[in-house]
Amino acid sequence: MSILVTGGAGFIGSHTCLNLLESGYDVFVLDSFVNSSPESLARVKSICEKDKKPKRDLHVFKGDLRNASILKDIFTKANEINKKIDGVIHFAGLKSVKESVEKPILYWDANVGSTINLLNVMQSFDCSTIVFSSSATIYGRSSKTKLKENFKLKPINPYGSTKMVIEKLLNDLFVNYSGSWRVANLRYFNPIGAHESGLIGENPKGIPNNIFPFLTNVAAGNLEELRIFGKNWPTIDGTGERDYVHVMDLAEGHVKTLEFLINNGPQCLSMNLGTGKGTSVLQLLNIFEESNSLKIPHTFVERRSGDVARLVADNSLLKSLLNWYPKRTLNQMCKDGWRWQVNNPRGY
Ligand code: NAD
Ligand code: UFG
Repeated sequence: MSILVTGGAGFIGSHTCLNLLESGYDVFVLDSFVNSSPESLARVKSICEKDKKPKRDLHVFKGDLRNASILKDIFTKANEINKKIDGVIHFAGLKSVKESVEKPILYWDANVGSTINLLNVMQSFDCSTIVFSSSATIYGRSSKTKLKENFKLKPINPYGSTKMVIEKLLNDLFVNYSGSWRVANLRYFNPIGAHESGLIGENPKGIPNNIFPFLTNVAAGNLEELRIFGKNWPTIDGTGERDYVHVMDLAEGHVKTLEFLINNGPQCLSMNLGTGKGTSVLQLLNIFEESNSLKIPHTFVERRSGDVARLVADNSLLKSLLNWYPKRTLNQMCKDGWRWQVNNPRGY
């Protein structure tokens, strides 16, 4: 079977491509490299070559998802070599909350415009299976209880709005095309860590916004200290609480979801992808220090605008439908993420 992975060179995409190849799928990637490097996919290939498993093909195309002709070329080429694309995992998009507030039109175009283009081309090539990268950010606010899929959606920034509207668009396709579409909206919580080889990992451009790459850069001495945003949140120790999930579990979750769609017929599913376990910033810091025998200089600063106290998944739907759940521990996330940083001090 062949799968098109949009944004496959990115952080989550590259780990998922590896899992797809190792699970026996041929993979076609379309990426503009606006936030990634082709080197990530070269490394995916080299990891596969070291494994003794039967090899599948990885085809990489450089281009923007808003460009219909390159998309059509990929589907056509796949047909010509008898590798018809059976499904799409759709990661491509812009993901900075801050930038989305400054440039909402860019975000609507890059995220929603590109998805409309993709869906049009998929339909014309009779491909109607899609796993979409949604986000816990669409729940909008924090909750004392774990977030369930049927909770009210109320995104508080343009990035979150684009994710919610794409979910709605995909639901419309399912409802209005007599149930031919197989759709899964995966609402990720906080992916961190890296592949255990230390060859692929997260490679943010400039100063990282997210806590984990910031932490590893402080540990490496590239940044002076971790600034903890707020110490009076209504959480266990006053610092923000999140549901951190190992990126390889996230990758595995995509392949399991894709197989669930293939085996279970047309539907439109929205599902949390998290561990169901909350961890505060201070707890994460302690586990990172203990796992890697390091000390991280840190200081407390004001709350970051737009932050919420707590985002933790109720992952019971995932467990019951897929008969699978993320198993890697925070200790593993911290060790694997630090190995990637140490082995690649300047990224790719
Ligand atoms: P990433 O930026 O590392 O990967 C996205 C990839 O898409 C990059 O390789 C980028 O070059 C590519 N891309 C962007 N716009 C494109 C376009 N118009 N055409 C072709 N390629 C394009 O991000 P990631 O962390 O791997 O996230 C993947 C997806 O998951 C994104 O849609 C993101 O919004 C979503 N998500 C991420 C997180 C997170 O914390 N990392 C959380 C929730 C949801
Ligand atoms: N934090 C700090 N210092 C930092 C960075 C973050 O204290 O330098 C804190 C934040 O206040 C928050 C926690 O660490 O409490 C996690 O923050 P991140 O920026 O790593 O992650 P967010 O939960 O804010 O957002 C991430 C992605 C979003 C996605 C969301 C889904 O960036 O795109 O997870 O849960 F939507």
